[in-house]
Amino acid sequence: MQFNESEFLVESIVPDDELIISRTDLKGNITYANETFADISGYEMSELIGKPHNTVRHPDMPSSIFKTLWETLQNGKQWTGIVKNLRKDKGFYWVKAIVSGVYKNGELVEYKSLRTPITYEEKLEAQKNYDKMRLENNEKIRTIFYK
Ligand SMILES: Cc1cc2nc3c(=O)[nH]c(=O)nc-3n(C[C@H](O)[C@H](O)[C@H](O)COP(=O)(O)O)c2cc1C
Repeated sequence: MQFNESEFLVESIVPDDELIISRTDLKGNITYANETFADISGYEMSELIGKPHNTVRHPDMPSSIFKTLWETLQNGKQWTGIVKNLRKDKGFYWVKAIVSGVYKNGELVEYKSLRTPITYEEKLEAQKNYDKMRLENNEKIRTIFYK
């Protein structure tokens, strides 16, 4: 996908009185999203359901973060982390996500993620860390830096 650099600059602010919720099947395809998820990501609900969750992956996110997320889930544990997500219009929004298994009669059937806002300082710190992680892993990084 080709992006115009300037489109990356528009941040959507996550409301602090609502949770952004989604669930996926065991492969990471979205099975449920709440209205807040659709609103903040700029997608229609019908554009989200059945799609892989990497639909909202932002190119600033290091691959290793998602590797750890999946390893943690596959070990039956809950994963918490800071995620920068990409909107349909190529804007972005930052969240703290808590991702865990959904169990039915003791059997793992889906995964769910509950997301809440983070502070400006947390965003700044995460962006710096993620740039560093991407550089260390020879992944391309954005061209705009916080100094
Ligand atoms: C319940 C759940 C929620 C997820 N939420 C996000 C998300 O909000 N943003 C995101 O980029 N990846 C999310 N992921 C991870 C994606 O499935 C995917 O691993 C990630 O976007 C990296 O894409 P890739 O595996 O194609 O490299 C979620 C995974 C699960 C199981």
